[in-house]
This record gives sequence, structure tokens and C-alpha cells, in this order.
Amino acid sequence: MLQEVNVKVPATTANMGAGFDTFGMALAMYNTVGLRRVQGRGIRMANVGAHTKGMEQPKENLTVRAARRVFEAAGEPFGGLEFKMYNVIPVSRGLGSSAAAIVGGLKAANMLLGEPLADDSLLELAVELEGHSDNVAPALYGGFVSSCQRGGKTVVLRLQPPAELRAVAAIPDFFLSTSRARKILPAEVRREDAVHNIQCAALMVGAMACGDLQLFATAFDDRLHQEQRYRLIKGAKRVLRAARAAGALAAGLSGAGPTLIAFTDGDGAAIRQAMRRAWFACGVHPKVQVLAQDNQGAQGC
Ligand code: HSE
Repeated sequence: MLQEVNVKVPATTANMGAGFDTFGMALAMYNTVGLRRVQGRGIRMANVGAHTKGMEQPKENLTVRAARRVFEAAGEPFGGLEFKMYNVIPVSRGLGSSAAAIVGGLKAANMLLGEPLADDSLLELAVELEGHSDNVAPALYGGFVSSCQRGGKTVVLRLQPPAELRAVAAIPDFFLSTSRARKILPAEVRREDAVHNIQCAALMVGAMACGDLQLFATAFDDRLHQEQRYRLIKGAKRVLRAARAAGALAAGLSGAGPTLIAFTDGDGAAIRQAMRRAWFACGVHPKVQVLAQDNQGAQGC
């Protein structure tokens, strides 16, 4: 019987332009969950790193709640456990921190119990806890994932992005909750906008499958959610224009924002600088990071 496991889980960028609530890609920025058996029946936990307000108690902590679901599914008593979370992925910034917390708890618990559940069962638990699959699927599997719900199940298509594709993530010094960023979206969309997104999304899957970066650049566009959300993010359009002018293949919102993300097949240095400068000029102090893609997903470390 295993006494201790450590799991690392990647950050994720959802939507990828046209794939609203559908696409996500894993990025090489990681949270780590340590889980070990301890004396007694209680649950101990320690959070280190990124802002964890509202997550200090085991009952409300997403990682602990997720782990509990695996123990229940495996018919094992939940207790005598210590969780240690090392959080690097910033919270409420559109980089999949809640997905990483959930997937980290599921994966760590499953490994500690000797892997009673297959990854597709972990995915269903993750979707149930998160409410949607676009971040949890790439956090679990790595790479670029297109997912949808069919007949009560989550169906995923996983593709490995072109090897040279990397992201430049400009992470602002303010939060934007996904629920707020969803509330402002209209309930109905124009048919031509829906068609535009279907066309771009189809091209994006092709671009990933064929490793075609020019097609990727063309496909990365949206008419369903980004424009409305830019109004909630001071300076967003200026920063995105700066990224494109500095040579980015594409640029837009990461998930529901407020992180702005650009993509490149270069080293990203000029884009990073341009995004930082543009946001500074608007009075926002972002942390801008060049991030490689992650193709492993959550795994023991
Ligand atoms: N797809 C979600 C949204 C965010 O754009 O509201 C990430 O799940």
C-alpha cells in the first residue's frame, strides 16, 4: 500500500479563440499536490503559494473535495490523510487554477489507492466538480483537447500541438471571476457570428492535427465572447494589438480572462516585452511569462 504520492498538474488556457467552452490547452506551469497517509482519521492540509482565500478548510478545498470523491468511488474510508498543496497557477486569472486543484486531488487520491479508477472516470468526476470540461480535460491529459458532453458522457479529442508553439501569458494584478465574465455574455447570438466560430473552430482542430501554424493563426478568432469581455479588462485591446505587432501568431483571452495570451513559434521575448509595456502604459502591472506547452497532463512527480 502506497503511503505517499506527489502529483503535478499543468495550468490550462481554455477557449483558444473560437472554441468557447470547448477547447483547452495545457501549459508548462504547475501546481503540485502531495498526499500522504497519517495517524488518526482526520484530514490535514497545508496550502503554499498562490492566493487560496476560501480554500483554507478541508471541507471547502477543491483538492480535498475531489480526493474524497475518488475514495468514495473506490469504497475506501476517507481519513488519516495529509494534503500539501504548492500552488503556482494564479487564482481567478483564466489559467485553470480550479481545474488544476480538482484534477490534482483526483489524481493524487487515485494514485494513493493504487489507481482503482481509469482516467476517463477521473474526467467525469472532474467535470462534475468543475461544471465544464474545457480546462479539466487538458489538465488531466495534457496537449490540446476538444471536449463535449454527449449522452451524459464527456467525449474528448486530444491532439499534440505543433512542437514549436508556445504561449506568452500576460497575467494582470487583478482578478476576474469566470461567473462575472459569463454573466455579461448575451443569451442569444447572431447566426453569422455562430457560423464564424464554427468555421474557425473547425480550422483550429485541423491546424492542431496537421501542425500548421499559419492555419492556427487564421483560426484563432472569435465572435461569441471575447469582445464583450474586453470591456471588463482595462487595456486589453491595446495589449493584444501590441502582441500582434511584436509578431505573435495570434492573441486573445485566456479562458474567461483576465489573462491575455499570445502564441508564437519563436522565443517570445519581444512579445513578452511588448505586452508588458502596453499594459504598464494603462496602469496595469502584469506578470508576463513565456510558457511551453505541456503534453503529459497530471502525473506523479
Ligand atoms: N470556457 C469558460 C468561459 C472558461 O469562457 O467562460 C473556462 O472554463
